[in-house]
Amino acid sequence: MLFRKNDKNLESKIDFDRLPQHIAFIMDGNGRWAKKRGRLRTFGHKVGAESMDAIVRHARDLGIKVVSFFAFSTENWNRPKEEVGEIFSIARKLIVEKKESFLKSNMRVIVIGDRKRLPEDLQKEIEDCERVTKDNDGLIVNVALNYGGRAEIIGAINRIIKDGVKEVNEEIFKSYLQTSNIPDPDLVIRTSGEQRLSNFMMYQCAYSELYFPKVHWPDFREKQLDEAIIEFQKRDRRFGAIKK
Ligand code: IPE
Ligand code: IPE
Ligand code: MG
Repeated sequence: MLFRKNDKNLESKIDFDRLPQHIAFIMDGNGRWAKKRGRLRTFGHKVGAESMDAIVRHARDLGIKVVSFFAFSTENWNRPKEEVGEIFSIARKLIVEKKESFLKSNMRVIVIGDRKRLPEDLQKEIEDCERVTKDNDGLIVNVALNYGGRAEIIGAINRIIKDGVKEVNEEIFKSYLQTSNIPDPDLVIRTSGEQRLSNFMMYQCAYSELYFPKVHWPDFREKQLDEAIIEFQKRDRRFGAIKK
């Protein structure tokens, strides 16, 4: 492939029989990345969208089953109106421009979070993209927009009450989450050196491996994903049992 910037040497260190099925990305550091270059924060979001695109394609090439991206949190409404608007317009542009390629590459796009508060044109593009890619059975691209883990859990509980369910177990509860059809993340990657979940899929991440590279999101590309997978494969996932 002509423009793949990944390092074949690194890829040879990946054990393709033990890939994480689901990798979740907390795309942090766009603002700091831009500031360091004397640019506006929104420039960081624009280049960050390019990272997202590169990571989607690389994950597909590697054979990952699901990638999740935290694009806008329920707390991000506390940012200046202009920045919020710009993030939504970048998200819309990405969806419009990439829809055809998602479709052709057999990718399925799903969006989690409370979309009712998003601009209407963005809501329409999301619905359209979900609809046209819904029968694809390749890589699932899950984008969290106006998403909060607590809001998701509370929403699930309210729907359970409405349905008159008297008792739940983990299986029933999962079916009420927006991620009901995807496996829990095996690996959570948060860029920029911050080490917190910031309300991202806490329920689903109960047993995820956490990885905190120092690079800001606009610099997180193919090579950095390879490195993350290699690190993941060094971890010993015990799930409460003892070492074999
Ligand atoms: C992540 O980058 C993108 C969003 C939260 C939408 P930030 O915008 O949080 O960048 P920093 O953390 O301020 O550098
Ligand atoms: C988390 O990043 C949200 C997204 C990546 C969309 P923030 O930059 O908003 O998180 P905090 O405020 O540093 O916890
Ligand atoms: Mg941040």
